[in-house]
Amino acid sequence: MRHLLEISKLKLNEIENLLDTAFKFKSDKKFPTYPDISLVNLFYEPSTRTKLSFELAAKKLSLLVSTLDVSTSSVVKGETILDTLETLGAMGVNLVVLRHKEDYLPTKLAQEINNISLINAGDGMHAHPTQALLDVMTIIDNKKDLNNLKVTIIGDIKHSRVANSLQLVFALLKVKSLVLVAPEFCKPDYIHYGTYTTSLTEGLKDADVVITLRVQKERMPLKQNFDMDDYINNYQITPKTLELAKKDVILMHPGPVNRGIEIVSSLVKDKQSKILSQVENGVYMRMAIINELAKAYV
Ligand code: CP
Repeated sequence: MRHLLEISKLKLNEIENLLDTAFKFKSDKKFPTYPDISLVNLFYEPSTRTKLSFELAAKKLSLLVSTLDVSTSSVVKGETILDTLETLGAMGVNLVVLRHKEDYLPTKLAQEINNISLINAGDGMHAHPTQALLDVMTIIDNKKDLNNLKVTIIGDIKHSRVANSLQLVFALLKVKSLVLVAPEFCKPDYIHYGTYTTSLTEGLKDADVVITLRVQKERMPLKQNFDMDDYINNYQITPKTLELAKKDVILMHPGPVNRGIEIVSSLVKDKQSKILSQVENGVYMRMAIINELAKAYV
């Protein structure tokens, strides 16, 4: 593996290998070390989980780790992202974790650089592959057999890079049933896998896994009249609506949660909620990804 750009560029055996490694790191707490490999976090959009978990993952594998503060870097003076990457490459940086608002940017940049491996930490509304992989890890942790599950993704699917990557990974791993629930104005332009409905009841009925998504007002057109009360009335997950799902349903959210919007606040830390398990697994999955890419530089 040269880069980690999008789920569609991964083969099934590569995903299985990353999952095996992540689970092994989590259970054994024994890690290889890469003291001569360096990683830079390059985030042009805000992040808590992805940025910090990549930093922690890299440190646990003994890489040299730096985070470039884009807001005080030469980006402000007009440096292009390709020049930034070539500058990092000239310093001997091996891995760059990139988050950017432009769809497909990591995939385009990967064709122009030859001495750095890129990890896509979220590009616009297109893809968030590392989130999808840690989500699969969390589902396997709790449900074992993916091939018998009904998984339901609820919320702002149209603007969600997480939803795109999840559909692709669920298709590859043959999740039995995937239902995408969203109001009409959050209906995805393209469905990679699963069926779409506006009905929360239909989506929640007998679900094994419920994944709620953040309402991304920052990605909606300015003229979009988003009625938050209407959204809450029709799509918020509450203890009552969750009763429609299976008794042992797990509730997930990639974060950050808009408390009281996608989920009632009391459910965030309920025993059915795996939101913090997702964060925990994120460190191990990102270690597995770094481990795989670092091998090319040893
Ligand atoms: N899920 C996710 O990408 O969270 P951050 O924006 O905090 O990284």
